[in-house]
Amino acid sequence: MQTAPRDKAARTLDIEDVTVRYGAALAVDGVSLSIEPGEVVALLGPSGCGKTTLLRVVAGFVRQASGRVRVDGAPIDHLPANQRNIGIVFQNYALFPHMTVAENVAYGLRARGARGPEIAAKVNRFLETVQLGGFRDRLPRQLSGGQQQRVALARALAVEPSILLLDEPFAALDRNLRLDMQIEVKRLQRTLGLTTILVTHDQDEAMSVADRIAVMNRGKVEQFDSPVAIYDSPRTLFVNGFIGSSNLLAGKVAAIDGGMATVALDAGAVLRLPAPSGLPESGGVLLSVRPEQLILSAIPGPELWRVEPGLSLPLGGQLVHEARTADGTTIKIAEPRLAAPKGLPRVYCGLSPDARPSLFPRST
Ligand SMILES: Nc1ncnc2c1ncn2[C@@H]1O[C@H](COP(=O)(O)OP(=O)(O)O)[C@@H](O)[C@H]1O
Ligand SMILES: [Mg+2]
Repeated sequence: MQTAPRDKAARTLDIEDVTVRYGAALAVDGVSLSIEPGEVVALLGPSGCGKTTLLRVVAGFVRQASGRVRVDGAPIDHLPANQRNIGIVFQNYALFPHMTVAENVAYGLRARGARGPEIAAKVNRFLETVQLGGFRDRLPRQLSGGQQQRVALARALAVEPSILLLDEPFAALDRNLRLDMQIEVKRLQRTLGLTTILVTHDQDEAMSVADRIAVMNRGKVEQFDSPVAIYDSPRTLFVNGFIGSSNLLAGKVAAIDGGMATVALDAGAVLRLPAPSGLPESGGVLLSVRPEQLILSAIPGPELWRVEPGLSLPLGGQLVHEARTADGTTIKIAEPRLAAPKGLPRVYCGLSPDARPSLFPRST
């Protein structure tokens, strides 16, 4: 488990085999996730994969066809949304346009029957928390997008929920503001000890904010792991393709022994690689390797394959080289820009010593 700090108030959240149908269509297909107290879990996946629907089941806005949601072990499925003690922030701010900032933040408290002095104290406290103390009498349209989203966050936090649900809360913000908000949310979530689900289609956001990431595809969770495990050891081709950039090289398994696969790449080298469990002992494979885990050499070698160099582009601190393999695959090789040697043309490519390539079975 990651280092999410624990708080007495933090709750576990268990999603057990939840399925949601809209008519004949499966929007969420048997999803199970156990979320630790105070943990931030990102639901990451392409548009339409069921992230919002799953979040809405937890919030109580969508009824699942089957499965259960538990908080601290107790089912909450029978509770209406307003009795679940869950704070939610939507992508599109969803502030009440005719209410001031303070009235927006007070809304949930008032709906729960809080009294005037208590409401005023909490509104002040949570507006300070999101650094909008001076904005209480403004209307939403007098605020920037980032400020509106902070009001939405204050409104969600004001009812002091034990679980926080965030549905693409930063998607409409520009890059710098998004970073500020990500840090802000992480800080608040830690201070308040909130078990949190963050829905996002942005892998960088998921990697930087979440303790664990659930990668979703077509209503299913394909992998639920720490950001590092997802990056270094993607379990499916879909996860591999969705996180970071990687090269795919086709090849054939020649043998598997002692947990190692001998793979003949169509590009022309034979490699010995750790075999994932379940890899067939013969047949086609795809080797996935990240650009920064490939090297170029001027000298041939047994585990190197020949490439035809293409363009080289500086990308921040990196130099990214394009190259073509003998079987016509275009690959990318990245190296620290200042380390790139000059001199002999480097036309041999191979795995760097610290490479963590993944192998996936290939049909056909
Ligand atoms: N109210 C609805 N009625 C019918 N289909 C819906 C409804 N809401 C979502 N869907 C469908 O369910 C699937 C999952 O949608 P959603 O959960 O919004 O995905 P995401 O948030 O990952 O983009 C999509 O195919 C979407 O078109
Ligand atoms: Mg969505």
